[in-house]
Amino acid sequence: MLIQLSKGQLEITYLATLETLNNTENQEDQEVKNGLTKCPKTLPSKYFYDARGSELFEQICELPEYYPTRTEAWILQEYAKEIAQITGACELVELGSGSSTKTRLLLDAYQTQEELCKYVPIDVSESILKDSAIQLQKDYPSLQIQGLVGTYNQALTQLKATSLPGRMIFFLGSSIGNFSPSDCNHFLNKITEVLEIGDYFLLGIDLQKPQSILEDAYNDSQGVTAAFNLNMLSHLNQKYQGDFDLNLFAHQAIYNTEENQIEMYLISQQIQVVNLKNLDLTVKLEKNEMILTEISRKFNLNQVKKQLETKGLKTIKIFTDPQNWFGLILCQVIK
Ligand code: AVI
Repeated sequence: MLIQLSKGQLEITYLATLETLNNTENQEDQEVKNGLTKCPKTLPSKYFYDARGSELFEQICELPEYYPTRTEAWILQEYAKEIAQITGACELVELGSGSSTKTRLLLDAYQTQEELCKYVPIDVSESILKDSAIQLQKDYPSLQIQGLVGTYNQALTQLKATSLPGRMIFFLGSSIGNFSPSDCNHFLNKITEVLEIGDYFLLGIDLQKPQSILEDAYNDSQGVTAAFNLNMLSHLNQKYQGDFDLNLFAHQAIYNTEENQIEMYLISQQIQVVNLKNLDLTVKLEKNEMILTEISRKFNLNQVKKQLETKGLKTIKIFTDPQNWFGLILCQVIK
């Protein structure tokens, strides 16, 4: 489906068909069921992001303890022009564009360098995508924007050939850290499949650092991350007519030093039984039983560089901050 929001410059396309929507719903139901019936229990991270969850995530990004957003923004502020110089004119495709805040640093750089570009934001949330695309269109009146509402997979599968000399797909915020190693591997395969020789991929990754800095970032003193984690239960209550009592769960984020990943848990504060009517599911939880809601992997730049190379993505330049807390890897398809 294609709707034209204003003449010429801004289009929003919906990628899901009725069939894929139905299949996805069935799959999602199954994922929740499986997660809550296995041991240890897990829930898919995508349930963080209802309207309230997305708001809370925006607040997380502003927290003093949560360094990734501002560190990545600093790197972009410092090096966006260099990135634009290296890639030249190109179509900028952003996976998980959200509010597109950091994107503006890239768009500004392409404009200053007078490099032609088109912006293709991709997000599952129609409302966030529309709002930010409309705002961007006001602020960059000459920019062509083609928003795609859908999952990364749908978008990467349905991306059309570009009329610009090249393309750069970018994936910021270390969202790749929320994928399991095997999902990460599939995702990178998909990226190389979609890109042509000479195209670019810009990847933001959170780097390994002392445990206390990481645990503070995910157990913030104002309790915003706790609210974000617990909000997943409200979301599931709504979606599945559930009766999770948020007061009976506590948030905790732990850094697993063997796996180099933050693990976010909801911990049951007592023995309890939860019902999810629409799933026909009753779940028993023990006191202190933990539900894993998210992993956030922390990376080593050289290892990621090597992994990208195995996918035919040659690192052109790595940009970091003075503390080496966050990295942006610009790579190119060589095949
Ligand atoms: C979206 N993602 C990269 C965030 C992260 O840091 O892994 C999600 C998040 N979870 C808790 N705080 C932030």
